[in-house]
Amino acid sequence: MMDHAQTLDRTDSLGGLDVDPNDIEPRDRYKLICGLVVPRPIALVTTVSEDGVVNAAPFSFFNVFSEAPPVAVLGLNSNPDGTTKDTTRNIRASGEYVIHLVSDELAEAMNICAVNFPADMSEIDMAGFTLKPSRTVTPPTIVEAPVALETRLMQIIPLSPTRNVVLGEIVRFKARPEIVDPEKLYVDIEKYRPLSRLFGNLYGRLGEVFELKRQTYDDWRETGKASRITKPKL
Ligand SMILES: Cc1cc2nc3c(=O)[nH]c(=O)nc-3n(C[C@H](O)[C@H](O)[C@H](O)COP(=O)(O)O)c2cc1C
Repeated sequence: MMDHAQTLDRTDSLGGLDVDPNDIEPRDRYKLICGLVVPRPIALVTTVSEDGVVNAAPFSFFNVFSEAPPVAVLGLNSNPDGTTKDTTRNIRASGEYVIHLVSDELAEAMNICAVNFPADMSEIDMAGFTLKPSRTVTPPTIVEAPVALETRLMQIIPLSPTRNVVLGEIVRFKARPEIVDPEKLYVDIEKYRPLSRLFGNLYGRLGEVFELKRQTYDDWRETGKASRITKPKL
């Protein structure tokens, strides 16, 4: 009798997943990438079209990769019908955008910004967001967002006809007063309450926060032990 591990060519000898991405459908690759690389932060991106229309949309293929220069990266796909997303078109044309980070109480409003409204309906109005001018770029800032990163396009790297990676330099960091102490630059993580994307329609709130001190080799030689998890003073 064949054991379970041998019945599928996507399993290892213990029955765990072990698969070449080229052997599964793109849809299943998406499922694995989104389901396994979690939690992801959400970039709620404002852009302006050549006609001056303000657009907002959320993206969780998003992270930061450098502080010198300060670089944020977005993974922008085409729409399911193959057309280019407004965000991609606007960033390509204007080279400017604002990436807002989202706290958990903004989850429902953020999700409204992913609705494919007809051109005459503004997702920003539907979501109930308020806009204010940004400091250094033309696309406006969403007042309700805890954090806004004003960003200038560095490079669009096409990965395929329907997938682009967008590298941008953050030219201004902005945060609501309760989130960052402007002198010491401490972030109050409990007030921030960042929302994360899991997969499908699942999201996560920040769970328990703990502290784990980074060790040097000297620390290690002295104690011979790993740092212990402790409760932080927040
Ligand atoms: C939480 C969340 C995360 C998303 N992440 C991405 C993403 O990383 N890349 C992408 O192309 N679309 C992503 N989408 C879908 C876009 O938000 C959606 O296609 C949106 O309508 C695009 O708007 P636009 O045409 O105004 O740019 C995400 C949607 C949600 C709700």
